[in-house]
Amino acid sequence: MEYRGPRRVRAVQKPMPEIKHPQDAIVRVLRTCICGSDLHLYNGNVPDTRVGSTFGHEFVGEIVEVGKEVTKVKVGDRVIVPFNIACGECHFCRQGMFGNCHESNTEATAVGAIFGYSHTAGGFDGGQAEYARVPYANVGPTIIPPDMDLDDAVLLTDVTPTGYQAAEMAGIQTGDTVVVFGAGPIGIMAARCAWLFGAGRVIIIDKEDYRLEFARGYSYCEAYNYREMDDPVVFIKKITDWMGADVCIDAVGAEAQGNALQTITGRKLLLQAGSATALHWAINSVKKGGVVSIVGVYGPTDNLVPIGNVLNKGLTVRANQASVKRLLPRLIDHVQNGILNPKGLITHRIPLEEVADGYRMFSAKLDECIKTVLIPPTANR
Ligand SMILES: NC(=O)c1ccc[n+]([C@@H]2O[C@H](COP(=O)([O-])OP(=O)(O)OC[C@H]3O[C@@H](n4cnc5c(N)ncnc54)[C@H](O)[C@@H]3O)[C@@H](O)[C@H]2O)c1
Ligand SMILES: [Zn+2]
Ligand SMILES: [Zn+2]
Repeated sequence: MEYRGPRRVRAVQKPMPEIKHPQDAIVRVLRTCICGSDLHLYNGNVPDTRVGSTFGHEFVGEIVEVGKEVTKVKVGDRVIVPFNIACGECHFCRQGMFGNCHESNTEATAVGAIFGYSHTAGGFDGGQAEYARVPYANVGPTIIPPDMDLDDAVLLTDVTPTGYQAAEMAGIQTGDTVVVFGAGPIGIMAARCAWLFGAGRVIIIDKEDYRLEFARGYSYCEAYNYREMDDPVVFIKKITDWMGADVCIDAVGAEAQGNALQTITGRKLLLQAGSATALHWAINSVKKGGVVSIVGVYGPTDNLVPIGNVLNKGLTVRANQASVKRLLPRLIDHVQNGILNPKGLITHRIPLEEVADGYRMFSAKLDECIKTVLIPPTANR
């Protein structure tokens, strides 16, 4: 696929990617997904998203070619490719912060490179394609266990680790009340993972009834529609004995809806980098001394957030891109042991050639869409 400008993507034939560095590998893509993060690109909200680039940071595939310094994977291996591109050797990678690699992205100092995620995130083409170039192939690609379904594997490239890390960063204590804003794939997975850390009560908030219904079944949580509340912050206080939640997770990010002022200043007039409505609600509805865990994506420029409340309530705020490689061993175990069921999130499977329809549907939340997998024509060879 390629990006043509805001809300326009299309399927086109592109040249076969080539090995450019001895540590590169080329992967024949077997499954790739559309993510909420792709919508920020699709809507034209990520700086330096260039026309002609290929999106896609969630993909698994078969190695078809390796550079001469690649030793950890070989032609024929089927691999999970983490969405972060990481060198494996820098100060940050050595601490397991693979999302913050200091080497892979020369365009920014905050985030490391991400496949198919604009030149702000390194300018690498992504995996919504038949073939993809994978740099640092000794670091990221991880062999898919032979008995693992490819649909589970592709959800280990981002959704499962991101949802899990959202719960991990939240420092959940046994019995805690956890509120998750956003019932997209990430929020639903975060809600499910909150139980693994000992939550006593898990609540999810969104505006899409079908997603709330899905979350009730998948994540065993309470689910409420913020459109039915006068004020979501007051609502959450009311259902938590007026104390607030122990932990709030922002799984929405900068395209949040639900507050006219944020929407006008952030999404219409662009006076701030998107709207921080869910983050506001998280900060204001968490208990004093509580934790706000942010995985919803915000850009490098500023947003209006109530920092005074963070200070005066004594909050801990933790945030990051997920560190996929660090979490993969644990999460592969959880899938194999039946503790997590990532492929249960998939509602749509469509041919890569129909990528434009896939984006339209996911973006407009049509047809009760939760997670869409794209299948390249070459996947079934
Ligand atoms: N940190 C990471 O590593 C990482 C990885 C993947 C995705 N993300 C980010 O996580 C976020 C969610 O991704 P997704 O794939 O689930 O996206 P999605 O678009 O499917 O889901 C977002 C949900 O938020 C809901 N929403 C909008 N405004 C809201 C509000 N004010 N309160 C509560 N819910 C609201 C929407 O109705 C939607 O269901 C995105 O910002 C994405 O970029 C981060
Ligand atoms: Zn993603
Ligand atoms: Zn690194």
